[in-house]
Amino acid sequence: MHIDQTEKKWIWISVLMTFVMMGVLTLYAVGSNIHPPSGFEPIDSTRLHLSEEFSEDNLGLKKNDDGTLTLTMVAARYGFYPSKVEVPVNTPVKIRIASADVLHGVHVPYTNFATMVVPGYISEVNTTFMKTGDFTLLCNEYCGLGHDHMWSRLKVVPKSSS
Ligand code: CUA
Repeated sequence: MHIDQTEKKWIWISVLMTFVMMGVLTLYAVGSNIHPPSGFEPIDSTRLHLSEEFSEDNLGLKKNDDGTLTLTMVAARYGFYPSKVEVPVNTPVKIRIASADVLHGVHVPYTNFATMVVPGYISEVNTTFMKTGDFTLLCNEYCGLGHDHMWSRLKVVPKSSS
């Protein structure tokens, strides 16, 4: 098979470019310590109400012994529970959320809080809410006929009042 000299040259250039780009990506990922998420926590979604952490009485915002805050929530068709939560502004919060049924997503517009809630696993997000006000937790994964109505309220309050 005859390949034109110019075409051959460009084949080599494109192969070389591919390897250069892969090299740059690899170096960048290694150098910046970027890697896929690891360390997942499984949970039995059908027995959330019987688990200690996700039973009804234990949901909501809690202060841990070391002074940090943990917000525990359940996503279930069609809502997030508790349906109203208050968190202090400019304070790191660890949010732990589990699904009681199917795949959900949670997203709070104008913040960086967004994650999938996959049944069988606990989703954990560490974030800090930077602005006070009323926000909405929205489901952003289609989960059934009531998906459009799956939302709840998040109020970010000044530090002193919490
Ligand atoms: Cu839950 Cu869509």
